[in-house]
Amino acid sequence: MNVIEAMKNRISTRAYLDKPVDREAIEQILDAARWAPSGVNTQPWQVAVVRGEVLRKLSEEFLRLAAEGVKPAPDYDYYPGEWIDPYKQRRFKCGMDLYKALDIGREDKEKRLQAALNNYRFFGAPVSLFFFMDKRMGKGSWLDMGMFIQNVMLAAREYGLGTCPQASTADYPDVVREKLGVSGQNLLLCGMALGYPDEAHPVNQYRTAREDVDAFCQWY
Ligand SMILES: Cc1cc2nc3c(=O)[nH]c(=O)nc-3n(C[C@H](O)[C@H](O)[C@H](O)COP(=O)(O)O)c2cc1C
Repeated sequence: MNVIEAMKNRISTRAYLDKPVDREAIEQILDAARWAPSGVNTQPWQVAVVRGEVLRKLSEEFLRLAAEGVKPAPDYDYYPGEWIDPYKQRRFKCGMDLYKALDIGREDKEKRLQAALNNYRFFGAPVSLFFFMDKRMGKGSWLDMGMFIQNVMLAAREYGLGTCPQASTADYPDVVREKLGVSGQNLLLCGMALGYPDEAHPVNQYRTAREDVDAFCQWY
């Protein structure tokens, strides 16, 4: 698969086959991703590959906390406190289209809740990656992390694997750090579901739109 193809056919996969992913494929994905650029080659990324029993336990713990109404306490605010346009509109459309793909009506609060909680089941993926970064690093390292994480998603396409970056699985970072034995010095930026896509599932038929280049690019 060429790079442009991988960039254009990567989507957030939210339903997976019950099929394990070979450790070798994950190793090769990370081996390719590590060639991401980073300021003065700092390579700030730390990755936890979580599978099997550990993943199941994490899922259980997330679901238990959510059921008990424990408020998420992520290491950073991904989203703004107050939404402004055009981001507000785009966010709204993204949610609406997703519910439509899942055939969830506007008023169906229970189904919406279950769809949201599916994040904590990693959408049925057999693997979740967790991306950490030393909190003593500067803001620039967040850019490096984004480039690395995108590399992982693109490399996954080469192996026929789907991904979904998940801010949601970083809702309870202390739990993740504790279960994985990760130092409190490391910020949890996000998780990522990884596995073979269930291509037949309606949620994977849904495609998000993008603005045209002219809408965000000026030439001088
Ligand atoms: C850092 C990051 C975190 C995200 N977190 C979630 C998440 O927790 N749950 C989810 O369903 N999608 C999550 N997404 C996926 C976005 O909703 C998705 O990328 C966006 O709607 C565009 O769709 P596409 O990825 O299919 O192109 C996240 C994306 C990014 C980049």
